[in-house]
Amino acid sequence: MSDIFLGLGGGEKQILVLSRANRHGMIAGATGTGKTVTLQGIAESFSAEGVPVFVADVKGDLAGIAMPGSPTHKAHEKLVARAAEIGLEGFAYSDNPAVFWDLYGEQGHPIRTTISEMGPLLLARLMGLNDTQEGVLNIAFRFADEQGLLLLDLADLQSVLAYTAENAAELSARFGNVTKASVGTIQRQLLQLESQGAAQFFGEPALEIDDFLCCDDQGRGYINVLAADKLMQSPKLYATFLLWLLSELFETLPEVGDPEKPRLVFFFDEAHLLFDDVPEALEEKIEQVVRLIRSKGVGVYFVTQNPIDIPEKVAGQLGNRVQHALRAFTPRDQKAIRAAADTFRINPDLDVATAITELKVGEALVSTLLEDGSPSITQRTLIKPPRSRLGPLSPKERAIIQSVSPHDGKYDTRVERESAMEVLAQKAADAAAVAQEVETRGREEVAKQPRKTTSVWAKAGQAAAGAAAASAGAVIAGALTGKKSRAKPVATAASAAAGTMATEIGKAFGFPGLGRFARNLLGGLMR
Ligand SMILES: Nc1ncnc2c1ncn2[C@@H]1O[C@H](COP(=O)(O)OP(=O)(O)OP(=O)(O)O)[C@@H](O)[C@H]1O
Ligand SMILES: [Mg+2]
Repeated sequence: MSDIFLGLGGGEKQILVLSRANRHGMIAGATGTGKTVTLQGIAESFSAEGVPVFVADVKGDLAGIAMPGSPTHKAHEKLVARAAEIGLEGFAYSDNPAVFWDLYGEQGHPIRTTISEMGPLLLARLMGLNDTQEGVLNIAFRFADEQGLLLLDLADLQSVLAYTAENAAELSARFGNVTKASVGTIQRQLLQLESQGAAQFFGEPALEIDDFLCCDDQGRGYINVLAADKLMQSPKLYATFLLWLLSELFETLPEVGDPEKPRLVFFFDEAHLLFDDVPEALEEKIEQVVRLIRSKGVGVYFVTQNPIDIPEKVAGQLGNRVQHALRAFTPRDQKAIRAAADTFRINPDLDVATAITELKVGEALVSTLLEDGSPSITQRTLIKPPRSRLGPLSPKERAIIQSVSPHDGKYDTRVERESAMEVLAQKAADAAAVAQEVETRGREEVAKQPRKTTSVWAKAGQAAAGAAAASAGAVIAGALTGKKSRAKPVATAASAAAGTMATEIGKAFGFPGLGRFARNLLGGLMR
């Protein structure tokens, strides 16, 4: 295992120490200064060292990472010249193992999650809800949990919200204020989400996060490329999705401290979107997740045009820094330069603030964490050229790469199963049928008949029972450790039913509080 070569600076090789790569990082610089190329070079080096990578391809110009570069490529001369300039011996083009993902399922495997996995906090952010509306959304979640209703897709959430509005008075008395107006606003926001194509993102089969942690048969880490060009048109969905992914990784991965090399490196392009008008409570959560996730062996690298877009508390945790050129046109630019200069370790031979404005394309100020955890002296560094292709893939090339994906066929077809919408629709249909019968045959006659369909409670029981019979112990153990088994339909049923199960088991053992306790643990950081 070797450390990652970044480029040549101050006459020395500048490296990213693998065992410190989970201490996060930042790649910053004005447009066209070389951020994406730097990211590409670092990502492929991680892959070569057996570290899987996740990266969002915001402009479609990163997909080429799956193909070798070529002597006929327009940047060939520049790349070869750079390799020679920094003494990169034996520079040769080569490809990387890559898997493509796409929330819309067009340019890669679809990525899905369920409404309950996303949780009310992130959904509220996604819909831009205020505190009152978020409170109502929480109540809808609690109600669904209590009733054992599975919240899988947007339709499920719509149904539960409609039910919440209809029973506003009763739910208010039990949980706190639920107004029809608040529910109405949430429903309208949901429709808007739907019009942005978010409906495809919610449902099953849900992503198994372990599928981001794969290596190929040569031991190279897979580079998971998220097609984000279309997604960027819905910046909130983009930011919330990446945040959800981080929190899933955080919740799923075991604690490993500072491993020899990261388990996954996560590049967060257009990182400023994560923090654009984000409520304080969520900013704190982000800060917390970023801080804690490194001991799970995940390194997060923020890529941004302006480093001051990243809140100080987060920026302070980014130990490995590559700062490309910044412009000095506006007062804000100048502030960014001062801030960048202040955070770099001093090099007596280098005026950082001046250098930042003078850097060439593909040149950057580099400071990384040394073995002992201290930052290396800042050096003006010529960044190495990537071995893979710069730029996009043709649809044909993409299709060929997808056809050999290790996850081929696993996510491509959506699966529907009985969840909140179906259960509530059935309940409404039954109620209507009974009302009709009462009208035609009279109340007394109808009351003599046995109940027509199972109640919501009975259904929830059935849903839980199937799964629980197989693994009640696992569900409860999972609930207590906060770890969930995911995505396999049975396991998901089990975890969705865990709230109900925990309540029942709590009752059975005479600990009525256990249900709440187990649910809270199950709830994780972001819910
Ligand atoms: N290390 C490098 N070696 C040689 N050429 C480079 C290097 N880095 C960047 N370049 C050249 O500069 C061009 C622009 O770089 P890149 O696309 O990485 O900029 P960027 O900062 O990501 O811009 P944007 O903010 O617009 O996305 C590349 O297409 C390439 O030709
Ligand atoms: Mg770029």
